[in-house]
Amino acid sequence: MTARPPVELSIIVPCFNEAGNIQLFYNAICRVLTDMAWEIIFVDDDSPDGTSRIVASIAQQDARVRLVRRVERRGLSSAVIEGVLASTAPLLVVMDGDMQHDESILPQMIAPLRENRQDIMVASRHMEGGDSAGLAHRGRHLLSRTGIKLGQIFLKHPLTDPMSGYFAFRRDCFNQALPKLTGTGFKILLEMMLALPRSVRMGEAPFIFRERHAGESKLGPIVLFQFLGMLVERVIGHIIPMRFFVFAFVGALGILVNLAVSEGARFAGLNFGASQLTGMIAAIITNFFLNNCLTYHDRPLKGWLRLSTGFAVFMVGCSLGAYANIGVAEMIYHADRHWSQASAAGAVIGVVWNYAVASTLVWR
Ligand code: GDD
Ligand code: MN
Repeated sequence: MTARPPVELSIIVPCFNEAGNIQLFYNAICRVLTDMAWEIIFVDDDSPDGTSRIVASIAQQDARVRLVRRVERRGLSSAVIEGVLASTAPLLVVMDGDMQHDESILPQMIAPLRENRQDIMVASRHMEGGDSAGLAHRGRHLLSRTGIKLGQIFLKHPLTDPMSGYFAFRRDCFNQALPKLTGTGFKILLEMMLALPRSVRMGEAPFIFRERHAGESKLGPIVLFQFLGMLVERVIGHIIPMRFFVFAFVGALGILVNLAVSEGARFAGLNFGASQLTGMIAAIITNFFLNNCLTYHDRPLKGWLRLSTGFAVFMVGCSLGAYANIGVAEMIYHADRHWSQASAAGAVIGVVWNYAVASTLVWR
């Protein structure tokens, strides 16, 4: 018994707050893909704007449309991975749900895969015939170019747009890369390619990146930070865990906060001791929250109880770290009188100590 022809193409669409775009996207796919059996999987991270309700109402009318709804989760890459895993067709395409990706090139993207001439097809904004006109502003153009340059340094395959969020591939390719995918950030294509051997066959098709139809972009500073983190991790991640560098980076920001706030407090009339204390508390608070959303973004503390107990442990732990820092520095200083070496050693001990406390006691 067959209920329907086998699905040949699964279209994976990550969405967060795309309520104003879903219907339009669905209409566009119906218009363009008339000669093959397809399905659309919308992966929605419980958008507050009701995206999932709109997907569900379409899915009720058309069984080719499905909803994967994730609760208490966020992230473009992991949404794509889970969408692929929830589907079954031998060919796949990943597309944004905001109408920026021109659906009219879908046939060109899929034909080479169907005819087994390519394994991956990337829609490129940066080749003859393509354009990135729809990027939000000039800053985004610059970022995009920098990202592409950085990405290309790490790639075995020459690609004009490794940052593209619009690409088609064979399922076996994905399965091969799957064990190496981290699922963080925006750069799922780049991660996939880094995980695949040089022999993978890749093609490109130009397209014009349109302006977003409704809603706004979610690519913010945290996503960029994760991207840089991923590249650094590839180079030195096997020697020292990336998390440690993020932790140290946050710590360095804390020093700046400390200096700025204690200066300000002194300016406002507090005495030396009180302004030092204010600066230190400000630094501990910012460090705690930055660590919660950057260093340990994969396991953040949530809710008042966890946040406040976590904060208390963090504060006590870091104070002990400060003692260790000063203690070690003094010891070395007394031994050989090299001021800068002594304080550097103290700082290293302090960071390592705090990192150990944070990773084992606070963000378990
Ligand atoms: N499920 C889920 N969860 N979807 C998300 C999330 C998330 O946390 N964040 C973003 N999305 C969805 C959006 O709803 C949209 O459909 C798609 O992922 C792309 O997000 P945008 O916020 O529109 O990204 P952009 O337009 O700024 O960036 C585009 O261009 C980049 C290169 O400049 C995307 O195509 C990127 O993939 C691409 O790297
Ligand atoms: Mn977009």
